[in-house]
Amino acid sequence: MAHPIGITGYDYVEFYVGSAKMWAYWHAKGMGMNIKAYSGPEYGVKDRVSYLMELNNVKIVVTSAIKPGTADINLFVQQHGDGVKRWSLNVKDVKTAFNNSIKNGAIPVRNYKKLSDDKGYVEEAAIKLYDDTEIVFINRDNYKGIFKPGFGEPRQKIKIDAKPTGLQSIDHIVGNVRINEMNRWADYFNKSLNFETFIEFGAGDISTQYSALLSKVVRSKEGAPIKNPLNEPYEGLKKSQIEEYIEEYFGSGVQHIAITTPNVIETIAAMKANGVEFLQPPDTYYEMLKEKKLDIAEDINELKKHGILCDDSEGTGYLLQLFTKPIGDRPTFFYEIIQRNKGAQGFGQGNFQSLFESIEKDQMLRGNFDKDPEE
Ligand code: FE2
Repeated sequence: MAHPIGITGYDYVEFYVGSAKMWAYWHAKGMGMNIKAYSGPEYGVKDRVSYLMELNNVKIVVTSAIKPGTADINLFVQQHGDGVKRWSLNVKDVKTAFNNSIKNGAIPVRNYKKLSDDKGYVEEAAIKLYDDTEIVFINRDNYKGIFKPGFGEPRQKIKIDAKPTGLQSIDHIVGNVRINEMNRWADYFNKSLNFETFIEFGAGDISTQYSALLSKVVRSKEGAPIKNPLNEPYEGLKKSQIEEYIEEYFGSGVQHIAITTPNVIETIAAMKANGVEFLQPPDTYYEMLKEKKLDIAEDINELKKHGILCDDSEGTGYLLQLFTKPIGDRPTFFYEIIQRNKGAQGFGQGNFQSLFESIEKDQMLRGNFDKDPEE
């Protein structure tokens, strides 16, 4: 029986990282985000520091341990490197969302909690996702502070000079999982969070000459645009980017977050000027685009100049997208920048081929393309 979760949208995404201050500066400079709030010893939090970066509807929190005994963060970073620890969903009622998800199979990791200070209270509870990740249910209707209790005005006074990027909202969050895990996690979303599978790619649908993957996209059935693609490696001649992720992250976790923009050309130009590196599709990709005679407003030469991908394979509208190189030290997490035109609903599956080819070039440079000899 369906139990509603009452999701109204994405809230924040939190990374556990080696140095939160450096990650905050990267997001401020590269992504043009504002350092909006800070949490740490100055605000009574003794074992960790966090920075909240915000731009329009995007909220990113980066958190680091400042004591050797801060086990949750230190063990996560030791195992996975810098990565997404949790992403959160705004819900109408946290207790209802949490209880209904658990009744339908979600694994609880943090029970309902009311976090209070003199500005009111925020309610949260969390369930497990993948190896070491969480989905947080949050409601901040009764809070008037900047973000959450424990956070206050940022301490840094330096103005970071970055070109405005116009990033708007989280579009989707993607998980990479091991062989035979994709269906389990798709079922987990569908049963416990009232989601449904709406796109599915099987064996042979997405592959290059060398590597392949299986993919399913699940989405909330409750109206809010929450979409979660899941990728699983599939056998190929070489090591796929999903296998590389699983090996370098040491487990399953969040692969990328897609953020929308109303003008991808301007956003990419600004982010590149801010120093962010993107994957560059091969020139042949744009020859192919020209041959397709797409009905699009943008000039293909302009797309080529910025390395932007275009996909109209879903039949409705078209999307423009581009992927950053992995933003941390391990080849794991990256961002996607996406512009959806005329109601496009896809995820760029028509681009996977060229995208893979450009990722494979980087994998070769890292020496992570050939399979290990004992396999
Ligand atoms: Fe994506």
